[in-house]
Amino acid sequence: MSTTSTNPATNSAQSPSLPFASRADQLVGSVIDASTTLLAAYDHDIVKFGMGAPAPDMLPAKDFGRIAGEVFDPSNFTYGETKGEPILLEALHDYLSATDQIPAEQKGNLDRLLITSGGMQGLDLGFKLFVSPGDLVACESPTYTNGSATAMSYEADILEVPVDDEGMQVEVLEEHTARTGRPPKVIYTIPTFQNPAGVTMSLPRRELLLSFAHRHRSVIIEDNPYGMLRFSGESLPALSDLSPNDPLIFGVRTFSKFVAPGLRLGWIDVDPEVRDLAVNAKQTMDTCAPVPNQHLVAQWLSEGGAESHVEVLREAYRERKLTMSAGLERHFPGELRATDPDGGFFLWVTFDDETLNTEQLLPTALEEGVAYIPGPAFSPGGSFTNDLRLCFASNTPERIDEGLERLRRAIDRHRA
Ligand SMILES: Cc1ncc(COP(=O)(O)O)c(C=O)c1O
Repeated sequence: MSTTSTNPATNSAQSPSLPFASRADQLVGSVIDASTTLLAAYDHDIVKFGMGAPAPDMLPAKDFGRIAGEVFDPSNFTYGETKGEPILLEALHDYLSATDQIPAEQKGNLDRLLITSGGMQGLDLGFKLFVSPGDLVACESPTYTNGSATAMSYEADILEVPVDDEGMQVEVLEEHTARTGRPPKVIYTIPTFQNPAGVTMSLPRRELLLSFAHRHRSVIIEDNPYGMLRFSGESLPALSDLSPNDPLIFGVRTFSKFVAPGLRLGWIDVDPEVRDLAVNAKQTMDTCAPVPNQHLVAQWLSEGGAESHVEVLREAYRERKLTMSAGLERHFPGELRATDPDGGFFLWVTFDDETLNTEQLLPTALEEGVAYIPGPAFSPGGSFTNDLRLCFASNTPERIDEGLERLRRAIDRHRA
């Protein structure tokens, strides 16, 4: 069943003395991002399965130290062009072309690219350009909280469309639209190695989604941070590969997962007309993405750093996922179902015991020294109370096993 949350669009009840805009009520924030502050309050050892961050041992730190010495020149510490530093746009385009991450029809077209301050800014630009207050935005259920929260910050009504092991159940979206006569203005999807479920949308579903979007003129925000991190199975075409140069597809990408999240760099790949509007929108946000960091990444890409690094990541994450899947079976036999992703960062766990509330469990888990994100964080309507998301990418196999042992202890203590 799909569920819709209607934006109340009332003025802030939280602080009636201040004349907040109606959208202030909809600034719900992100439980994921807040977990960084939550964890900072603990001084004992915690195995972090919460945040979707690459581990420190998975960052190209050595290369960066060397390259920083070359490119951190005073001339690169000034304002840059809003669309991005030309040297990065070119290096990025060359890398994406060489690794078939853009369709042949789009090769050579740099006018589609805009360097953003992380994938989050790409999402913000997408929702800002296409969502007016009261518009319907369809998202996966569960979904990446920050995406649905961004749609809500533009006063969208949210339609949660369930996910199964073939990704978003587009058939449910079709049924909902036929029943209500109200198609979504925007569809927010993470088709490949979905956050949080780790599942990948099947080819028939991808085709159905495109056909739906074309019939209803819905914009698809295709959020694809993990697609390049496939460690098993057959690769599937992105929505943008299936429908090249499609003005309805707003592609959001990021350097955070295959380079480093602290750089705060990402990009959008969109119709050139949309790109020009996004440039105007970005100028009222932050003028340009961090310039020294753009030069750092440009040089790293030009040296061919990404190709070998991504290979290292794929192999490491394959091992980490296998360790986590095996550990879940060993520590929780017959007690849960976990997804089995072919790439990306995350596993989604559903406990058979529906009374096990993962939000209530969290304080005990943190005391025992393990962090995760509770299921309701991934649903605007607060579903998934007996689910949780685990990030397998951030820890070594030994630490993953230690973390699962601690989770086992936490659950036993919580029940007792
Ligand atoms: C699906 C998805 N989209 C977007 C982002 C945001 O990326 P960034 O950290 O580059 O802003 C993330 C990060 O976790 C993500 O998982």
